[in-house]
Amino acid sequence: MKRAPVLIEKHGNVTLLRLASENPLNPLTDELVDALGDALGRIDADDAVHATVITGSEKAFAAGADIVAMSALDYAEAFRRDYVGRNWDRIRAHRKPLIAAVQGYALGGGCELAMMCDIVIAADDATFGQPEVKLGIVPGAGGTQRLPRAAGKSLAMQMCLSGASISAQQALACGLASRVVARERLVAEALDMAGSIARHSLPVLMAIKEAVGRSFESSLSDGLLFERRLFQAGFALRDQKEGMAAFLQKRTPEFLNK
Ligand code: CAA
Repeated sequence: MKRAPVLIEKHGNVTLLRLASENPLNPLTDELVDALGDALGRIDADDAVHATVITGSEKAFAAGADIVAMSALDYAEAFRRDYVGRNWDRIRAHRKPLIAAVQGYALGGGCELAMMCDIVIAADDATFGQPEVKLGIVPGAGGTQRLPRAAGKSLAMQMCLSGASISAQQALACGLASRVVARERLVAEALDMAGSIARHSLPVLMAIKEAVGRSFESSLSDGLLFERRLFQAGFALRDQKEGMAAFLQKRTPEFLNK
C-alpha cells in the first residue's frame, strides 16, 4: 500500500504534520502539497486545534519542488495549471499559527515552505537555500519576496543569485529562524513552543497572525490602523474579560475561545 505523503499526529490542541514522501528528501510533488493543503484546511475548520508544527524527515524538511515533474513542464501548462500557485496558496491562506521545524535540507520550495510558516525553528544541521538559479529558473514560491523580508536584501540576493545555502546559525543570525536546537530535540522543542502558543485564546491567536501578516502587505499607518481596530474589536471577546480577570485575581485564565 502506498503511504500517505503527510503524516498527521495530534498532541492535545497542537497538530504535528510530518512530510513523509517515499524519498526522504521530500520533493514537493503536487501530491504532497495537495495533501498538506488538505490537512491544513481540516485544521482551519477544527476549533480544537490551535497551532500546528510542520516538520520533515531527518534528512530534509524538503529539497524543493519536484524537479522530475518540472523538467517536462512547458509555459502553457505551468500557466494553465497555475503551477506552484493553485495548491501552495492554501498554505499561505492558513489562518492559525504554523511552526516550521526544519532538519536537514530546506532548499528551493522547501525554504519557501518554511518561510510561509509563522515561526521557523532550525535543527543545528539545517541548511537553507534557494538553488533554483542552478536549474536555470527563478524561485517560484516566495524566495525572491519573503527571503529579503526575512533575511535582508544582501543575504537574500547572495542566496538567490549564487544558489549557495546558509547554515542554521546563519539563518538564526539573519532572522530567518528564531531558534536553533539540537537535532534530537527539534520536534519536542517545536511542540513545546506550539503548546505554549496553543494555550491562548484561538480568536486572539488568529487575529495576531493576521495583524503581523498585514505588516508585510501595507504601509505603517495602514498597518497601525488595522492593528488598532483589531485591538478595539478584542474588547468584544469574552476571553478579554477572562484574561484580565485572571490576571487581577492572580490565577491562570480559562479561555473559552469566544
Ligand atoms: N525533486 C525531485 N527529485 C529530487 C529532488 C527534487 N527537488 N531533490 C532530490 N531529488 C532526488 C534525486 O534526483 C535523487 O533521485 P535518484 O535516487 O532517483 O537519483 C534522490 O532524490 C537523491 O538525491 P541526491 O542523490 O542528489 O542526494 P544527495 O544527498 O547527494 O543531495 C541534495 C541532496 C543536496 C538535496 C540534492 O538532491 C539537491 O541538490 N536537490 C535539488 C535541490 C533543488 O534544486 N531544489 C530546488 C528545486 S526548484 C524549486 O523548488 C522551485 C520553487 O521555487 C518552487
